[in-house]
This record gives sequence, C-alpha cells and structure tokens, in this order.
Amino acid sequence: MVERIYLAKPRGFCAGVVMAIEAVEKAAQELKGEGDLVVYHAIVHNDVVVKRLEAEHGVHFVEDLSEVEQLRAEHKLADTVVFSAHGIPPELRREAAERRLSQIDATCPLVTKVHSEAKRYAQEGYTILLIGDSADHQEVKGTRGEAPEHTFLVAVHTHIGRDPRLADPRTLQVPNPEKLVVLTQTTLSVDDTLATIEILKQRFPQLVVPSRDDLCYATKNRQDAVKRIAPQVDLFLVLTSLQSSNGMRLLELSRSLVGRAERINTVEEIQPEWLEGVRSVGITSAASTPEDLVQAVVAHFRALNPQLEVIEEGEWENIAFREPRRISPEEFRAK
Ligand code: F3S
Repeated sequence: MVERIYLAKPRGFCAGVVMAIEAVEKAAQELKGEGDLVVYHAIVHNDVVVKRLEAEHGVHFVEDLSEVEQLRAEHKLADTVVFSAHGIPPELRREAAERRLSQIDATCPLVTKVHSEAKRYAQEGYTILLIGDSADHQEVKGTRGEAPEHTFLVAVHTHIGRDPRLADPRTLQVPNPEKLVVLTQTTLSVDDTLATIEILKQRFPQLVVPSRDDLCYATKNRQDAVKRIAPQVDLFLVLTSLQSSNGMRLLELSRSLVGRAERINTVEEIQPEWLEGVRSVGITSAASTPEDLVQAVVAHFRALNPQLEVIEEGEWENIAFREPRRISPEEFRAK
C-alpha cells in the first residue's frame, strides 16, 4: 500500500504558461460579442488545458492560419489570433496581418530572448547550432525561423537518431567553424544539454556559448525538485501530455533516477499493477499541467489509505510575466 507521497516542488505551471492561458481567457471574454477567438497551435502543450479552453471559452485552435477563412465565412471569427507560448517564426506575424487579424503574442519572454539571440548572431554572420527536441517542435520551428539559412539543428547527445533531421553533435560538419554559436530550446534536460554543449566545445573550440544558457528557470527548477525527492521514492508519477518537452524530460529524468516512472495525463490512467510493492510515490507535473490534476492524484491515494502522509518540501517560484497586448493589422504594418 502507498504510505507516503512526495510532491516535487516546484512543479506545474510556470510564469510563461500562466501568462499565455490568462491572455487567451481574457481575450476570449473581451471578444465574446464579436465571435470566436483563434489560437495558433496548442496555447501550451497540455491536452486538458486545450480542451477546457475549447469547452469553456469557445476557443478554436488552428495549425494553419488559412483555417480562419472558414470561420470568417461562417461569421464566427473574432478577427484576432493568439500565438502560443512556444513562439512562432516571424513570417506568421506577417501572415496574420495580411489575413486582417489582430494578434496577441503569448510567446514566453524566455523564448523571445532566444529569438533575439538568433537574430543578433545571424546578423553578425554567425552560424547557429540550435539544440532541440525535434524539428517539429513549435519552439524549434519558431527560433529557427528567425534565421533559417544560418541555423543547424542539433540533437541532444542522448537522443541522437530520434529525429534524423537533427545532426549528431559528435559528427556534425559546419561551413565556418570559427564563427559558431550554440543556442538551445528552453525546455530540455539540463544535464544532457550541458553535456552536448561540452561535446560541441571540444569539437569547435571557438564555439560561442552565451553567458547564460537558454534553458529556462522552470525547466531547471522542476528537474532539481525531482532529483531532490528521488532517493525517497519507489515510483514516480509524472503528469504531462506527450507533447510537453519539459514534461517528457521530467519523465526521463525520474525514470533514470528511480527506475520506475510512469506518465499520466489524469488520475484515471493510474494502473493498479504499477503500485505493486510500492510504499512511496513521487509526483511531479509539467510546466503546462494544471495543479488540480495533481491534487486529484493525491485524493486518489488518500482514498485508498486515509493515513497517507503527504510530504512537500521546496519553494514555489515568484515570477510573473507581463500580459501581452493586442496589435491590430494596421499597427503591425506601421511598425
Ligand atoms: Fe517559458 Fe520555460 Fe515556461 S520557456 S513557457 S518559463 S517552461
């Protein structure tokens, strides 16, 4: 029987996710009379969040801005698009303006910082090595989009071959090894990414590594919290959607530390056989997982054992990002 639960702290929503979800809720509320709000890409990579926004706020999620024309023809469009927290390639802003859409950019400021670095280094003639999860990850597409002809995608050294479009850091060839910079997706494994940068530094001694790496505070803090509780835990449960990069890294990390770790979206997915011989469970959640899903798991174990001990040590973060403002197509063109 499960006697103890260790809740990783911090876990769950980061400042970027809070800002992005609030931006969608506020815009949907304000535009209610004008029609439905469109969000480009899942606002954050969590299926429950997306379904709630669809059901409670009538939000439409699209993967292609051309989809707005159908809504417009049906007189259901509020003429506004929100860009997701992961960021977008710059041409999408132009496309939104051409389609007469106002835009609310909910890109996390920590992703925007990486975009600025990509732009600046490309202007200075650098080749960019962008370490990422997959060529299809929205954040990778957005950052690469700032300087596509200057950017090489590179795999984390533990994930070589997982996406064949990402180069192997041990064998990658570049045209100008004397003018190279490395940037990264914000939500990767901290240890594996730093090790990958080391491999690149060995191979390209003149590689520029920006003074602060691009991995975000939320990614680092959630991974550290997992490391802290791992020695006490028989099994880890990681609440994350499959698409969440930071969540899947928490799953890999907890599995590597404890051996037994399972991913769940919601409490209903817990399989009784996972709990055989398990007395203490560690729980963590991705930066896009709502806390009520975690509390439902705690309630489940409490119902099975009223004497359940819940241990939660660590600090919550105290970071907030400013809400993005709405920019009309005219204002965008005038910029
Ligand atoms: Fe931003 Fe990191 Fe969250 S990049 S959206 S603070 S996971």
